[in-house]
Amino acid sequence: MRPVTDPRAMQAPTGTHEHGALRRADLDPDPIEQFRRWLADADSAGIPLANAIALATADAEGAPSVRHVLLRGVEPHGFVFYTNHASRKGHELAVNPGAAFTVLWRELDRQVGVRGRVTQVPASISDDYFATRPREAQVGAWASHQSEPLADRRELERRLAEATERFDGVDVPRPPFLGGYHPVSRAGRVLAGPAFPAARSVPIHA
Ligand SMILES: Cc1cc2nc3c(=O)[nH]c(=O)nc-3n(C[C@H](O)[C@H](O)[C@H](O)COP(=O)(O)O)c2cc1C
Repeated sequence: MRPVTDPRAMQAPTGTHEHGALRRADLDPDPIEQFRRWLADADSAGIPLANAIALATADAEGAPSVRHVLLRGVEPHGFVFYTNHASRKGHELAVNPGAAFTVLWRELDRQVGVRGRVTQVPASISDDYFATRPREAQVGAWASHQSEPLADRRELERRLAEATERFDGVDVPRPPFLGGYHPVSRAGRVLAGPAFPAARSVPIHA
């Protein structure tokens, strides 16, 4: 195997590109619908975690940070993800609602980039979403203090045991610190084709 520090190993993606060029005429005039179609294609192609997006936020000074989250909804008015309001991204979105995300479906030679202003989804929608989560994940949400360092693994186990006991035999309510966000897309780009040359990028506007 070539070392990763070898620049030859870090060139354009290798392999065949059978998906051809992106033509504006092939795109749905509604960018959300277009995104939905590509997400469905990625799902059908068996791409693992096809709904994982790299989400960038920035603090009040504009210093950026990025991490993956899962898209949980593609609604007519935008995209939805869920996170902990007390996490780094939660704090950053509270002071600076500008965000961007990108998703790469490498096997299909496609990527999409979206940026816009993020608002919180109504509490009732977050409640509905939380109710669909497996019980284990619901209890885990109460035990998790996202973005905060843990003293050790035992601390997490202790918090999990506490939450398990607290909700024994009852429905687990949504923790108030966990909720949905809604990047309202202001502008986005879809890119497709071998190594995503800029010439094949098509701007989308929602
Ligand atoms: C594949 C994958 C999916 C993830 N999905 C979510 C998610 O939907 N929501 C979330 O809050 N964190 C999710 N995480 C964890 C985040 O990447 C991140 O570690 C956590 O939210 C804390 O981020 P922050 O400290 O930058 O706020 C996911 C991680 C991975 C690897």
